Amino acid sequence: MYKKVTGTKDILPEEILKWQKIEEISRNIFSLYNYKEIRTPLIEEAALFNRSLGQTSEIIQKQMFLFNPASTDSCALRPEGTASIVRSYIENNLDKTTGFAKLYYIGPMFRLERPQKGRLRQFHHIGTEAIGSTDPSLDVEIISLADNMLKEFSIDGYKIKINSLGCAKDKKELIDNLREELKTELNKLCPDCQVRFEANPLRILDCKNEACQKIVSELKAKKNCLCPECETHFSKVKEGLDALKIAYEINPYLARGLDYYTGTVFEITHEALGAQDALGAGGRYNNLVKELGGPDVGAVGFAFGVERLLLITELENRITASKNLIYLITLGLEAKKEGLKLLNNLREKGMASDTDYENKSLKASMRKANDLNARFVLIIGDDELKKDVVTLKDMVSGEQKEIKQENLIESLKIC
Ligand code: HAM
Repeated sequence: MYKKVTGTKDILPEEILKWQKIEEISRNIFSLYNYKEIRTPLIEEAALFNRSLGQTSEIIQKQMFLFNPASTDSCALRPEGTASIVRSYIENNLDKTTGFAKLYYIGPMFRLERPQKGRLRQFHHIGTEAIGSTDPSLDVEIISLADNMLKEFSIDGYKIKINSLGCAKDKKELIDNLREELKTELNKLCPDCQVRFEANPLRILDCKNEACQKIVSELKAKKNCLCPECETHFSKVKEGLDALKIAYEINPYLARGLDYYTGTVFEITHEALGAQDALGAGGRYNNLVKELGGPDVGAVGFAFGVERLLLITELENRITASKNLIYLITLGLEAKKEGLKLLNNLREKGMASDTDYENKSLKASMRKANDLNARFVLIIGDDELKKDVVTLKDMVSGEQKEIKQENLIESLKIC
């Protein structure tokens, strides 16, 4: 027997209602905020991610699903959406046609991680990218959009943590200061952070190792690294969040693991998720569009991990039963032929209907109708055929009556 690939999940019909609800709520909110959907391929040139996420990021170092890794035109399954969407924005000249673009996406992402609770190799993002503005109120809109989505998903108890990494110059200064200050502590850092010290000391800030966290908590370098312009931008973001009464914590250790971030970064966590506690995350990436060959425009976005949303949502209570299903039971060959026409007729009129394809007995068919939560059962047998009627059973009231074929649709509508 074949088994699914490690770190992937089948989403079975009984779970799909929750997925559909999350997607429906997301689409409704995106449309309220005037974000338009974009769909990009699941595979991209690997170089796009190398350039965008940074050679030293964990994703590029060890999590990419690569085809022809040795070749110069190597492709990768997308590990995230931002780089692909910026690539598409530039390639399709959206900067010239649309200008400022508010985009959203829903779809699978792939990372070769060690699977555990809330950490998969194929997982799903619901995300947004607003490209073409450096306005701090756009950062506020993005964070408030994420906050509103969580409320609509019936999730509470989450924390929004924000920070500013500053512009490229500020970031470089912070990295230099971190190296300078950590130089004397190098032996006390975990082996990973000793590598990060050379490659990208920013990543030491959010290392989970206790010894590293202690050293980080005593660092002075994290403070006062913002230039006046970035300081003002960050103040405006905080003021905007305050005005909307969005609760947040400032976390000066929040660095995010991807190189493209500049300025505001944020993460939304939930204790109930355990070790992998980020429900979603995002931030500004003001240099990425230019770096990938596009215009010099600011951008900001975020993504939720759908599997993690599903681990804690209380959406069950808000999922309504599917459409009123009509279940047709036919007895005998003639009735079956007549039944096929009737089913076709019902479906043409927009009425959800189904029948038995397993040659079940009347009793077993009734049980099946019950299992399917059918609202009505229709029965056609020799008797009904002779009288040109259908037996209609209301599964809620239990009432059963014969109805003339020509009046059936009308009766079902009234019911
Ligand atoms: P990220 O933090 O790498 O950001 O991913 C966003 C969210 O995806 C995480 O907070 C988490 O909920 C979920 N996630 C990540 N990896 C996994 C995994 N292996 N299994 C299950 N869920 C996972 C980004 O990808 C950025 N592109 C977000 C962004 C958009 N920044 C700006 N625009």
